[in-house]
Amino acid sequence: LRVAVLISGSGSNLQALIDAQRAGRLSAEIAVVISNRSDAYGLERARRALIPTQVLSHRGFPSREAYDAELAALLDRHAPGLVTLAGFMRILTPELVARWQGRMLNIHPSLLPKYRGLHTHERALAAGEPIHGATVHFVTPELDDGPAIVQAQVPVHPDDDAERLAARVLTQEHRIYPLAVRWIAEGRLALGDDGLAYLDDEP
Ligand code: GRF
Repeated sequence: LRVAVLISGSGSNLQALIDAQRAGRLSAEIAVVISNRSDAYGLERARRALIPTQVLSHRGFPSREAYDAELAALLDRHAPGLVTLAGFMRILTPELVARWQGRMLNIHPSLLPKYRGLHTHERALAAGEPIHGATVHFVTPELDDGPAIVQAQVPVHPDDDAERLAARVLTQEHRIYPLAVRWIAEGRLALGDDGLAYLDDEP
């Protein structure tokens, strides 16, 4: 399975995929890492792992549609079987998402359907949630709304601030994202016609 990883920042989830692959826990090839920001640290991680990188800045594009058309063309050139969003801080057009239906994953730092969008840790703390976490899901046109594949829970401690809580969640993200990608690579995980995610038995 050829995988494209889209990032905007640190790329620690990208690193988790690289590490899983190196440890023999993921038989997939990260074919390309694409960032909309040239200063994303994840690009450095990719280069160190000898993975091809592409920067497609959103600056200078007249519209979201124009940017996504270019992104679609870039993806097509690398012909991935799976696109993984890993801290890619852009909302994708329905056209692009539809094109990758069932072949695009995202990781979101909350227990969806709770806390779609930004500042999930701050919002979970403000709400006094005892439990928080992360979700890997298939991407659908609605933001952070696709069917969940796997979720990880963490406890919220009384003395948590957003940073501490985020770190605890991120550790779990690094566990569940490689797992979901591995299931796709094994051909066991698919988006059903009913819009739900299904995992087949081990081969
Ligand atoms: C993660 O918390 C991810 O869930 C969110 O953005 C963050 C990206 O972190 N969408 P990293 O770039 O993978 O370190």
